Amino acid sequence: MDLSTKLAGITLRNPTMNASGVLIIFPPMMKAFEDHGIGAVVGKSVTKEPREGNNGPTVIQRSEDVCMNRMGLPNPGVEEYIEEIKKYEFNIPVIISVAGFSLEEYVSNAIKGVEVGKIIEVNLSCPNVEGGTICFAIDQTYKICREIVDNVDVPVFSKLSPYTNLLGLNKTIDAVYKSGVDGITLTNTAPSLSIISLDIAVNERRNNNLFKGGLSSKALFPISLRNVYEASKYIEKEGLELDLIGVGGIETHEEMISYILCGAKATQFGSAAALHFNENYKEIPRSLCNGLEDFMRDNNYKSLEDFRGEVYR
Ligand SMILES: Cc1cc2nc3c(=O)[nH]c(=O)nc-3n(C[C@H](O)[C@H](O)[C@H](O)COP(=O)(O)O)c2cc1C
Repeated sequence: MDLSTKLAGITLRNPTMNASGVLIIFPPMMKAFEDHGIGAVVGKSVTKEPREGNNGPTVIQRSEDVCMNRMGLPNPGVEEYIEEIKKYEFNIPVIISVAGFSLEEYVSNAIKGVEVGKIIEVNLSCPNVEGGTICFAIDQTYKICREIVDNVDVPVFSKLSPYTNLLGLNKTIDAVYKSGVDGITLTNTAPSLSIISLDIAVNERRNNNLFKGGLSSKALFPISLRNVYEASKYIEKEGLELDLIGVGGIETHEEMISYILCGAKATQFGSAAALHFNENYKEIPRSLCNGLEDFMRDNNYKSLEDFRGEVYR
């Protein structure tokens, strides 16, 4: 049975990847996941300058299925991060995620990123920094992606927010395709709000009472899945050559397989690693692959292409 998949021509031994920025951030941890069977590893989104990120509570769990974060892109800066990754030898593809606060910054981060990255993932969708959800500004998204594509010689994936406006999703797909990217990662977290205490009178600092963050985990799953499904249908209808990575709420092989059935070539898990930190979270890729193998055996599938995209055909 063959679990391998290809992203823009690059082979992954299986379709499991970590999602950028969630726990598996530093090279030793990324290397440990390689040893635990993951298909590819994704770095934390990097900016030119080091960032501390936000103060105070940065992650809350409203309920078992509702996780929110407002990390604010903490990272050591692109130079230091890439030099640190260089100290390790990876036998699986390393994907470098780049963020930025200007066109020039996105591009220079991507140029540095290719020193170790087999793929560049462009984070156009961070809801926790000023201007982070730049994917909703289609012209700027086009320019950023175009400049990166023109300046790097590895495949480029655009990471987008979850869309509830499907016309907006299609227009963004058109723009990033025209820019020359090889694929799209769907989705980042959804902008969301939580009121910590309803009793504002007892709260001394009103602002601390509001948790503005990005929604992830199981609650995000059906929304991200719909995005992948709609994007796949649109890409096929328009005859575009774009590979999709599905992300949002993957905890078990069932969510992962759902993304593949909706057309994703690979998948990423994020919050699951944090939520299962006290258990054996390094086993996540293996447990996802075991479930995938059982599913393929039960249905007599020999490769992922035997069932990928099956639900919209
Ligand atoms: C704590 C935390 C930090 C994140 N940091 C990043 C980041 O640096 N870059 C990025 O593209 N996405 C970031 N994300 C979004 C995830 O990569 C992923 O798209 C999202 O969490 C949905 O997947 P999940 O439900 O499996 O967590 C972050 C998410 C969380 C929860």
